[in-house]
Amino acid sequence: MLERFAIRKLHCTTLPLPRSVELAATIEATGAEARFLPGGCGANMAAWLAKLGTPVSVVAPFGRDANGDLARSDLERRGVRVAGFDYDGPHSLIYTLITEDRERTFADYCHGVRYDLLDSARALKRESIVAIDGYLLLRLGAADGVHAYLREERPIGQHIVFCPGDVSVLTDAADASAFVLERCSHLVMNRNEAAALFPGGSDADVVAGLRARGIAGAITQGEDGALLFDGEDTLHIGSAHLGRPIVNTNGAGDAFTSGYMHGLDRSLSLAETARIATDCASEILDSKAARPALSSEVFTTAPAG
Ligand SMILES: Nc1ncnc2c1ncn2[C@@H]1O[C@H](COP(=O)(O)OP(=O)(O)O)[C@@H](O)[C@H]1O
Ligand SMILES: [Mg+2]
Repeated sequence: MLERFAIRKLHCTTLPLPRSVELAATIEATGAEARFLPGGCGANMAAWLAKLGTPVSVVAPFGRDANGDLARSDLERRGVRVAGFDYDGPHSLIYTLITEDRERTFADYCHGVRYDLLDSARALKRESIVAIDGYLLLRLGAADGVHAYLREERPIGQHIVFCPGDVSVLTDAADASAFVLERCSHLVMNRNEAAALFPGGSDADVVAGLRARGIAGAITQGEDGALLFDGEDTLHIGSAHLGRPIVNTNGAGDAFTSGYMHGLDRSLSLAETARIATDCASEILDSKAARPALSSEVFTTAPAG
């Protein structure tokens, strides 16, 4: 199916709208198990932070339909403050395709509605940490909003955490990504994103280069764990072993980044942060969902379409 729809494995491929409708029909025809789950890297991270006890607000686009309502109410039920924003259009759907190796590949489509992000983002001005979900940079209007937000005055010492989220963000929104990279104080990415940003560089080179620019962060390495670094120290942590096959890897990076931000919020040591981040990641590997379960969660089983 990935080949037929020219979807690049492990990446996020944006399909023309009619092609995405065909994809939905194809999924339905295979009889594969499909379900609607609320997602989005930033929203997944907010769900995790609420669970970890770090108060959190979200600025994200919520479309005017049942999926938009589901996305919003899922966050609100977790105690996440939704700081914006609604728009007049369908809520975005992403097809999360799980291959036999339990890795995830995304396909999405652009509904063409322009997002106006800046007014809502201004509500984040007093936050001590602002995380930027790279997928926003792929959206019409949202990249401009992020750009404008980062150019406005903010409290001294506010941490900006950049989470590219996918290699396609770094390639398809290269200029916007470069700008965020220039302004961020923390960068949390997986090894594919690190390779895209610093071609041919070893992990040590990447860490040295970022440290020289005053950037701390982490490079996650799938089953090999993760490398965390700040101004002085670099620390490798192995992945957690579940002692059984994982369900799928969807959301592992978001979970790890959430633990990282929780550590930042609490001024924890690199070692303590690494442990919490790895625990969050290992919990999500055991789940079909991309964020921690809500106790009374009910999933619809209708295929996307
Ligand atoms: N197959 C796996 N086995 C064990 N741990 C994993 C596996 N895949 C991911 N993890 C854990 O999740 C973290 C983030 O995963 P990674 O694959 O690097 O990010 P992403 O989800 O962005 O691709 C890793 O640092 C590791 O702790
Ligand atoms: Mg992975």
